[in-house]
Amino acid sequence: MECTRRDAIACLGALGTATAIGAGAFAGTGPERKKDIAGRAAGPAPGNHVPVALPFGPGQLKGISEKLIVSHHDNNYVGAVKSLNKVEQELTKTAADTAPFIVFGLRERELTYTNSIILHEHYFGNLGGDGQVAGEIRRGLDEAFGGLARWEQSFRAIGASLAGGSGWVVLDMNNHTGDLRMYWSSHHTQSVVFGTPLLVMDMYEHAYQMDYGADAARYVDAFFANINWERVNSRYESALKALQHSPA
Ligand SMILES: [Fe+2]
Repeated sequence: MECTRRDAIACLGALGTATAIGAGAFAGTGPERKKDIAGRAAGPAPGNHVPVALPFGPGQLKGISEKLIVSHHDNNYVGAVKSLNKVEQELTKTAADTAPFIVFGLRERELTYTNSIILHEHYFGNLGGDGQVAGEIRRGLDEAFGGLARWEQSFRAIGASLAGGSGWVVLDMNNHTGDLRMYWSSHHTQSVVFGTPLLVMDMYEHAYQMDYGADAARYVDAFFANINWERVNSRYESALKALQHSPA
């Protein structure tokens, strides 16, 4: 069955290839989410977030050392989980007379750590593969960006623009327009407000400095060699399916 980008949603339904929406659909490492009584995904109680393990053997990545990826996971990602738990515990103590600047600071940190967790889980979740693009996402990238090579050039260019600093490169499903887009983010709180991350590249220096010093370009090469396109494709198919139920 031939599918164009325009009718990709219908095609996915016909092909029956879309993965389930909800549990694990957007989580990079696919942790099983609890369900509420209506069967919807339900997160942990405030202050009770639990980090998920790396979804691959830490020594199996090509060009990204075990020492670096373990440090990244255990310090930066797990640190964000611990910090979010503390912030949420503090938020439970706020009351009507809590000073606005206290609320401001806690809510800013809540958003920062929440996004850091989401982005890191997607980042680790889209590593551990062989770097070979496959599935419907290949067609989607080709049609949305004028060819796979053109898409990769643009994605790498965003990474290069962040080299030496900090930020994220995110291939997103823009759920407002229904299009694939790439977004630049210099910190954790600049993600597009109504997007679904499909492929996430961490450009904070902690993601490469230990292995490559300031040579971010070689890290980006290693990132591409380790992309788990099967996971990215699964996210893409789930995002297309979700567009069918989008209220926007
Ligand atoms: Fe990171």
